[in-house]
Amino acid sequence: MRLGILLSGRGSNFLAIAEAIRAGRLKGVEISVVVSNVADAAGLKAARELGLPHEILVSKGRKRAEHDADVIACLKAHTVDLVCLAGYMRLLSAEFVAAFPNRILNIHPSLLPAFPGLEAQEQAFAYGVKVAGCTVHFVDEDLDHGVIVVQRAITVLESDDAHSLAERILAEEHIAYSEAIGMVASGDYEIRGRRFMKKGAA
Ligand code: GRF
Repeated sequence: MRLGILLSGRGSNFLAIAEAIRAGRLKGVEISVVVSNVADAAGLKAARELGLPHEILVSKGRKRAEHDADVIACLKAHTVDLVCLAGYMRLLSAEFVAAFPNRILNIHPSLLPAFPGLEAQEQAFAYGVKVAGCTVHFVDEDLDHGVIVVQRAITVLESDDAHSLAERILAEEHIAYSEAIGMVASGDYEIRGRRFMKKGAA
């Protein structure tokens, strides 16, 4: 299974995936290309240092459809099977979603459907939730909405502030993303309605 990683910033989720592959925890999975829409993204620099194929496709000032067409062409040129959004700060066009049906994963730092959109951890903390977490889901045309593959939950501590909570959620993200990729790569699943389930589960 050939991954195309899309990112815009820090890239810690990308690095966690790369480490899971290196450590042999994702057998048969490889990173075919890392694409950044931001020229100076730290994640891009990390991809370069790891010697992974990487591309910069700057989105700023471009029409969504045109930029997305370039990204799709790049992913196809690298024969990507599964697209992993890892801090990719762009909404995908319908054409992009259609080009990789149920073949795009995203990670979101909340237990969806709670707190979609930006600054989810801060939203959750300010709301006063007792349990927080992260979600890896397939991408459909709506924001933070597609079928859920993996969720990991943590208890919010009385000693937490928004920053410490976000850090503890990020540690769960780094586990959850590889777990979800492994499940999708295994092919041993089916989607019933909105439910991602083991193939043939009762
Ligand atoms: C993560 O919190 C992820 O859930 C969200 O964007 C952030 C990206 O962090 N979609 P990183 O670039 O992977 O470190």
